[in-house]
Amino acid sequence: MTTAILLENIHPSAAARLGEASLTVERRSGALAGDELRQALSSHDLVGIRSATHLRADDIRSAPDLLSIGCFCIGTSQVDLDAATAAGIPVFNAPFSNTRSVAELVVSEAVMLLRKIPEKNALAHAGKWAKGASGAFEARGKTIAIVGYGNIGSQVGVLAESMGMRVVYYDVLARLSLGSARAAGTLEEAVSQADVVTLHVPATARTRNMINADVLARFKPGAILINASRGTVVDIDALAAALRDKRLGGAAIDVFPEEPKTNNDPFASPLQQLPNVLLTPHIGGSTEEAQENIGTEVAAKLLNFLNTGGTIGAVNFPEVDPGPLHAPARLLNIHSNAPGALAALNTLLAQDGVNINGQHLQTRGHTGYVVTDLDRVPSDALMGALRAHAGFVRSRLLVR
Ligand code: NAI
Repeated sequence: MTTAILLENIHPSAAARLGEASLTVERRSGALAGDELRQALSSHDLVGIRSATHLRADDIRSAPDLLSIGCFCIGTSQVDLDAATAAGIPVFNAPFSNTRSVAELVVSEAVMLLRKIPEKNALAHAGKWAKGASGAFEARGKTIAIVGYGNIGSQVGVLAESMGMRVVYYDVLARLSLGSARAAGTLEEAVSQADVVTLHVPATARTRNMINADVLARFKPGAILINASRGTVVDIDALAAALRDKRLGGAAIDVFPEEPKTNNDPFASPLQQLPNVLLTPHIGGSTEEAQENIGTEVAAKLLNFLNTGGTIGAVNFPEVDPGPLHAPARLLNIHSNAPGALAALNTLLAQDGVNINGQHLQTRGHTGYVVTDLDRVPSDALMGALRAHAGFVRSRLLVR
């Protein structure tokens, strides 16, 4: 019987998907740590976590039978990926499930800020009537600069263009322009022509404080900045100064250099109390739809690995897509990526009298992963020999 444990209130869509595939699923509402976590890891084939459960090298090594880890979120930094790879455990996540949620929020915030809605809303709540067109603009015909034209950035471009905005983007990689979007050669070139600048880059050493006082000085007077990427990308004090001096027309900030760990912790930012500034608690991707999509997306990847050995979408592992099992048996072998590993495997198979119907090999760094379809189920002795082999990390057998 194959079992999975899903922690941290993962959307029920995941348990439903795994249950349909006849897995026994245990659900927990909170994160686990320490002995409780190790107990869970060593008594299940699959584990599903979100961002609050940390899987450290020791935790992973304590669970020799754990087959795979599903991160039901985007980030995977809560897992020691090197330790998982060394243990032969692929880790899956859901990189695209909340793309649309972030893109919708960004485009709607651009509209709100161009119309000065945060200010007018606050005044109306305070009993003041601020009717007037001055300083309020349509999005149509305005230029939006998208910094980081990946999954989310390119979706923002599509939505913004459908509202009649001119789209310019800046990315360190050459990206296919969608619609009429145009690439800018430099960050400065992109931001200096934009009415709205929106950030969609990852948190890296290169993007740290990418939007600093120098870059903000290149913005058009009255331009709007939206950051729903990572808090480290913007020098928040420089942004606060530009907003206070009215050099910028407004900002929508969803991510902060320091964010409260839980909803019970206080939140402080130099952007608080500034007019025409929308502050949101890192909810760009937080929608019911995104959570549901994440549940089914990661569950499907875990099932694919369980049932076929496929590792497409693994963040730490050689990616192999062997498709459904049609042969009598399939051997999944994870080994140290060293000369002779494949030859050793095939020699052992030949000595067992098993014929190879097909074979898929991929390597990544120190790890090799080979999926071999066999004309019959190999002997227990062979499986024992494979498991005892010093160069092999793991061998698992699928039988049709
Ligand atoms: P992605 O990896 O698809 O796209 C990132 C793009 O940024 C890539 O095209 C990459 O080439 C580009 N890039 C990297 N370094 C750059 C640099 N120095 N200058 C210009 N471009 C650079 O990532 P995705 O999925 O679009 O996510 C973008 C950001 O949004 C990430 O930081 C992610 O963590 C964040 N995010 C925030 C959410 C929220 O709730 N606010 C939810 C989901 C993602």
